Amino acid sequence: MNNLSEAIHDYCEKLSLNPDPILRDIDRATHLETLAPRMLSGSLQGAFLTLISKMVNPKVILEIGTFTGYSAICLAHGLAQNGHLITIEYNPEHAFIAERFFNQSSMNDRIRLIQGDAKAIIPTLDSTFDLVFIDADKEGYSVYFDLVIDKCRPGAVILVDNVLWDGKVIDPNPDKKTKIIQDFNKKIAADTRVESMILPLRDGIQLIRKK
Ligand SMILES: C[S@@+](CC[C@H](N)C(=O)[O-])C[C@H]1O[C@@H](n2cnc3c(N)ncnc32)[C@H](O)[C@@H]1O
Repeated sequence: MNNLSEAIHDYCEKLSLNPDPILRDIDRATHLETLAPRMLSGSLQGAFLTLISKMVNPKVILEIGTFTGYSAICLAHGLAQNGHLITIEYNPEHAFIAERFFNQSSMNDRIRLIQGDAKAIIPTLDSTFDLVFIDADKEGYSVYFDLVIDKCRPGAVILVDNVLWDGKVIDPNPDKKTKIIQDFNKKIAADTRVESMILPLRDGIQLIRKK
C-alpha cells in the first residue's frame, strides 16, 4: 500500500528519522504474531509521526487504534515534559501485544492503553487534546472526528490515516468502504473549523489543524 515507487520509498526511509530501536522489535513481532501486519504504520510514516509530534510538543495525545503499539511509541517521542498519550484499542489480542511493548519501552509511564470501543471511551475522557491520530475502523472516521473536535484546543493537530484508501478514492464507482473515505475527505475539506490537506504519504494522511 504505497503511492511512491518502492525505490523512492526505500530512499526516503533510509534517510529519515528512526528514533527508537524497539520499533524494529514491534515490526518483527507484528509480522510473526498478527494476521494483518500491513496495518502497522512502518518506518517512514513513523518518522513523520514522531517529527509532527515533536513540532506540536503536545501535553496530551489521543490515538484511536493502537494495533501493536508502533505509532503510539512514535508519537510519544514528541510529548512535552509530563505529557501523556492515551491510546484506545478494541481488539484484546492487539492490546496484549501493544502492552507488552509499552512495558519494555522507555515511554511506558507516559502511555495509557485503554482496551475497548473508542466510540464509547472517547466521551468519557476528560482531557483537552493537542494531537490526535485517528487510525481505527474506517467506518468510524467521521464519528471519531466529531467526538474529538470539541475536545481539541485551538491549534491542535489531527492526523487521519489511510485517506487515499489504496488509491481507490478517485474511483467514480466506489465500493462501500471507499465511499465512506470519500465522504469523510469531503466533510473535512468543507469544515470551516479546521484547515487541512491530504498528504500523499504511504496510504494518505489527512493533516488537519483546528483553527
Ligand atoms: C490500522 S490499525 C492501527 C495501526 C497503528 N495505529 C499503527 O500505526 O501501528 C487499526 C486498529 O484499530 C483497532 N480498532 C478497530 N475498531 C476500533 C474501535 N472501534 N475502537 C478502538 N480500536 C479499534 C483495530 O483492532 C486495529 O488494531
